[in-house]
Amino acid sequence: MGKQIVSFKGVTKGFDNQTVVDNISLDIYGGEFLTLLGPSGCGKTTMLRMIAGLESCDEGQVIINGVVSNDIPAAERDVNTVFQSYALFPHMTVLQNIAFGLSLKGRPEAEILEKVEEALAMVKLAGFGERRIQRLSGGQQQRVAIARAIVNEPLILLLDEPLSALDHKLRKEMRLELRQLHRKLGITFIFVTHDQEEALTMSDRIVVMNNGKIEQTGEPKEIYEEPANLFVADFIGESNFFDGRVTGTDGHWMDILVEDVAMTVRNRRGFFVNQDIRVLLRPEDMVIQRASDDCDQPHLKGRVEELIYKGNTVDLVIRLNSGKRIATTEFFNEDAEEIFYAQNEAVCISWIQGWEVVLPNE
Ligand SMILES: Nc1ncnc2c1ncn2[C@@H]1O[C@H](COP(=O)(O)OP(=O)(O)OP(=O)(O)O)[C@@H](O)[C@H]1O
Ligand SMILES: [Mg+2]
Repeated sequence: MGKQIVSFKGVTKGFDNQTVVDNISLDIYGGEFLTLLGPSGCGKTTMLRMIAGLESCDEGQVIINGVVSNDIPAAERDVNTVFQSYALFPHMTVLQNIAFGLSLKGRPEAEILEKVEEALAMVKLAGFGERRIQRLSGGQQQRVAIARAIVNEPLILLLDEPLSALDHKLRKEMRLELRQLHRKLGITFIFVTHDQEEALTMSDRIVVMNNGKIEQTGEPKEIYEEPANLFVADFIGESNFFDGRVTGTDGHWMDILVEDVAMTVRNRRGFFVNQDIRVLLRPEDMVIQRASDDCDQPHLKGRVEELIYKGNTVDLVIRLNSGKRIATTEFFNEDAEEIFYAQNEAVCISWIQGWEVVLPNE
């Protein structure tokens, strides 16, 4: 990782007596693709606006490239933003839109044209300079907004839900293109989304926010496989939750009771006897067996309620005998027939040992 390019040091921001960013400290490194992820209203846009200089902070410091920047006006920060709404000038051409900032700065015409051409090529819109904005599709407008931001060669590019106005297919394509653009430019991207799939597929690191606070910071794999708490576990990906209790501990191991079934799992967080816990399991961590086969491991019992064929996986909805519903995903292997179950077939449910995440149930 590069050196810190943006640091929040104990930053707090409120509106109308409501704290929106609550004493946040965060280092963002040069060249990384960092995503702020969290539910609507958790403070993501406010964080971006404080980096851009469009919002002041009440307490703490925002340090950009080594300089305390609280009092540095937006125009003097080496930062550009792509907004959700694109905020393009509809009556101007693509070229005029992209050239706007450089023209304001009074750069020579030839230089402007060269840079605009370069930026257009970067976003795969070479030859579109004379088009009017109104004559572009949503996806093309989105690219113009990105070109307009990168033409200034900023140190940091801020992207506030830039893909949310696009349809599903285009959004997926643009994810890939933004990743490629990030690699080509080598600058820091700070991306905001409330879409966990977008965050997982695009980011070097994810910051999960909730209520103006950071719940967890980590690489996508870490956030997905080792969620720090129930909020993160619930917000990221699909999960099955089982309530349980610790019945005994022995150093690194503990006995637990889940749905009245006794099991032994690793004790990674110093759990104690009688503590209420919640066991988190992703659909793909579950192991399903026919009840007619020997189900020797400790297991839960249930019946197949739904079977959803998805091409390379089969998803099952299983109703446990307790009434609880869970979701499982099985990948095809050489013995594909094995995973086709009949509706209402009785099954044993366990999971791949060690893949469970156990969190305190507070
Ligand atoms: N200028 C403002 N004046 C008053 N309240 C504001 C202002 N800007 C934001 N807020 C409030 O601050 C909170 C956080 O807003 P923010 O826009 O940062 O959330 P967000 O995480 O970006 O949400 P979303 O995903 O919906 O865009 C919200 O409750 C919002 O209503
Ligand atoms: Mg927002």
